[in-house]
Amino acid sequence: MSETIFIGVAWPYANGPVHVGQLAGCYLPADIFARFHRLKGNAVLMVSGSDQHGTPITVKAETEGVSPAEIVARYHAMFLETWARLGISFDLFTTTGTDNHREVVHRIFLKLLAQDDLYLRTQDGIYDPIARRFLPDRYVEGTCPYCGYSRARGDQCENCGRQLEPTQLIDMRSTLSQGKPEIRPTEHFFLRLSKYNQPLLDWVRRQDHWRPNVRNFTIRYLEEGLIDRAITRDIEWGVPVPVEGFEQKRIYVWFEAVIGYLSASIEWAQRQGEPDLWQRWWSPQAKSYYFIGKDNIPFHTMIWPAMLLAYGGLVLPYDVPANEFMNLERRKISTSQNWAVWVLDVLERYDPDQLRYYVAAVLPETNDGDFSWRDFWRRNNDELVATYGNLVNRVLSFTARNFDARVPDPGQLGEADLGLLRRVDDAFAAVDAAISAVRLRDGLREAMALAQETNRYLDEQAPWNTIKTDREHAGRAIFTAIQAINGLKVLLAPYLPFSSARLHEMLGFADPLEAGGFRPGRVPAGQTLGTLAPLFKKLDESIVEEEQAKLGTADVG
Ligand code: MF3
Ligand code: ZN
Repeated sequence: MSETIFIGVAWPYANGPVHVGQLAGCYLPADIFARFHRLKGNAVLMVSGSDQHGTPITVKAETEGVSPAEIVARYHAMFLETWARLGISFDLFTTTGTDNHREVVHRIFLKLLAQDDLYLRTQDGIYDPIARRFLPDRYVEGTCPYCGYSRARGDQCENCGRQLEPTQLIDMRSTLSQGKPEIRPTEHFFLRLSKYNQPLLDWVRRQDHWRPNVRNFTIRYLEEGLIDRAITRDIEWGVPVPVEGFEQKRIYVWFEAVIGYLSASIEWAQRQGEPDLWQRWWSPQAKSYYFIGKDNIPFHTMIWPAMLLAYGGLVLPYDVPANEFMNLERRKISTSQNWAVWVLDVLERYDPDQLRYYVAAVLPETNDGDFSWRDFWRRNNDELVATYGNLVNRVLSFTARNFDARVPDPGQLGEADLGLLRRVDDAFAAVDAAISAVRLRDGLREAMALAQETNRYLDEQAPWNTIKTDREHAGRAIFTAIQAINGLKVLLAPYLPFSSARLHEMLGFADPLEAGGFRPGRVPAGQTLGTLAPLFKKLDESIVEEEQAKLGTADVG
């Protein structure tokens, strides 16, 4: 039976280009997962968009002396180009700046307010008397009350990952003026998170299929107890508060950004000309997956679920397969120091599938990962080119030379041939199980193991020798290898969509690969191959040093 799969992907702040850390954190895993489920014939809706509010945007705008809107427009366009060139197949990638988003946020805000899940409270605001303004949380630094980290920000401690209120910081200072801020009263709306603490705990405890780190982190957090949080701010850039007298304030970015999952679904349905269609992905039968980096866990396993519980009638996350961080050459990625690899820049020199392959192979699913150019180079040449690309190349060009570019008639298959075909079936079961459980690295490993096995089969059968003595045998081996390659094409399609599509054509098919579904399929004897070309480029070792030399230099991508 076909499943309904909602895929929400973290909304990137539109304040800089996408780097490989973000790619590994959520965009590539979400896309692999979406492509797999579409191949399976499931109904997939994958959405995200530019997170256009919040201090990351205003800080960037201030640094450049331009408006926040200008920053957002620039990087939103860049995101769209990145997804197109890398094949990240969003059904919709919108922004939090649309009228639709504001309307949906207001609808939720007002319902929660009417049922007393939002309430007003006078709060201690952090006022910088030198800068003469209330300070956004991020503009306040101090010591984390939980772990003692001395440079914790007013919204979150980077060291222990806990969300904070600025007033919890010990020895606050303003990052604008370096001065000591004052505390002044200011009125804000609070989200009654405390009310949902126990329901959330009961719910999370039942999620046995979650990654242990995500589940344990969430349970520990809830056991300490959620406290009500202010969801409005004394700022100018953001979604307005739909209540009279609050014209000078805005809704806190995190409260509205997570609503983007819903508003983007609604926008998508409107664009389909079927305004109610979104409901299918928000009903209890739908399974919703949220692909995020680990710094976003609290918002997706507690805050957003609490909002959904409060609002009612919308499905809670089925899984939140948060990834760990990806380091770069063993150092933490730092965009400000340009210790980063920018995706659009990489695509100037390499094929999208070369990047997708490497990142998929080292996804930080269970531990922090490391992007290293030497490893990129090695895996490209030893795995992608040697194990997979050359296999395809030698079988198909052999077919072209010796069988007039047509798939040979196999006659009666022997034990070895049937054994390889069974291996193809097994690989489908293994990759299906891995991707379904969001173990994407394992899925790739299983597929590549089939490529190795096919190489072994060919070495044993050696059709290049038997072609001279036993043409039928050679034809049988080539037929069988072509079937395995055809299976690899499908198994790898979620990971390597561009090369799988090229291979599909080379195998002589005219319809799109997706039409065949997630199954081994058959290339019929007699089918004429398409135009052949190597699937992947081998890379020279010199790229390792060339690429490493760019890290940490001033030229930001
Ligand atoms: N913009 C946030 C970040 O980059 C992520 C927001 S995810 C959302 O960390 F769901 F809240 F939008
Ligand atoms: Zn801390």
